Amino acid sequence: MARIVGAVTTSHVPAIGKAIARNLQEDPYWKPFFDGFKPVHAWLGEVKPDVVVVLYNDHGLNFFLDKMPTFAVGAAPEYRNADEGWGSPTLPPFPGDTELSWHLIESLVEEEFDITTCQEMLVDHAFTLPLALLWPGAASWPVRTVPVCINTVQFPLPSAARCYRLGEALGRAVASWDNDAKVLIVGTGGLSHQLDGERAGFINQPFGLKFMDSLIDDPKWATQYSIHELVEQAGTQGVELVMWLAARGALAGATQRLRKVLGNHHIPISNTAAGLLALEPA
Ligand code: DHB
Ligand code: FE
Repeated sequence: MARIVGAVTTSHVPAIGKAIARNLQEDPYWKPFFDGFKPVHAWLGEVKPDVVVVLYNDHGLNFFLDKMPTFAVGAAPEYRNADEGWGSPTLPPFPGDTELSWHLIESLVEEEFDITTCQEMLVDHAFTLPLALLWPGAASWPVRTVPVCINTVQFPLPSAARCYRLGEALGRAVASWDNDAKVLIVGTGGLSHQLDGERAGFINQPFGLKFMDSLIDDPKWATQYSIHELVEQAGTQGVELVMWLAARGALAGATQRLRKVLGNHHIPISNTAAGLLALEPA
């Protein structure tokens, strides 16, 4: 059976794409952010995942306001990136894993999650840049991928508790996949940021640190909050942190205590409190 080797959760910000393209990893503004990934590179080199399930939110590249699924799962042989207008170069296509995609889709529907299946799917900065951070400079992507998209763009949004339960269902689905692949879960979004309105620029570091901490031993802590309360705490776009909850939910079946591989919280990258956490079954 397939095995989840761990979860990496990280923020996504379009400006990272430009920083990579311009080789700004050692620039004083970017260095503390990029350096945070070095221990993850070492860890990934040891665990060598075969396939990555990426929990993220599309920002209008694949789904626009006219059609907005709450949950969508990719089932394509490959996933292409496209120009979102941020000025970053587009990245090479990501290989899919249609066998795992359909297994996840069948398992999720059986568990009463009504999802949209996507046999064609463009992937935006929230999917591409975290993978580019995890495997920098790779000539081709060393992993197959399955995108799982959660709507955090157009209300109504799924609750934090429901996203956690989606993650739990994904974890059970991976564990029942008759394949000896090693699966990494990646969740991208958050932490606190607000790009628009009166509170544009809002960042809540105490909340972000408490949230990161809670994911280790008290993962349901943030599910006490409604989406509107999360907007209050973390900003309008900070609600993207539900991806971290879904990713953590996928590890909920791990029998042993989780080991924190690393955590990094750096403020700000662009408008965002940039967090990074890697967890593995101890
Ligand atoms: C920024 C953050 C995001 O999550 C996003 O999708 C776009 C921009 C930012 O901080 O600039
Ligand atoms: Fe975003």
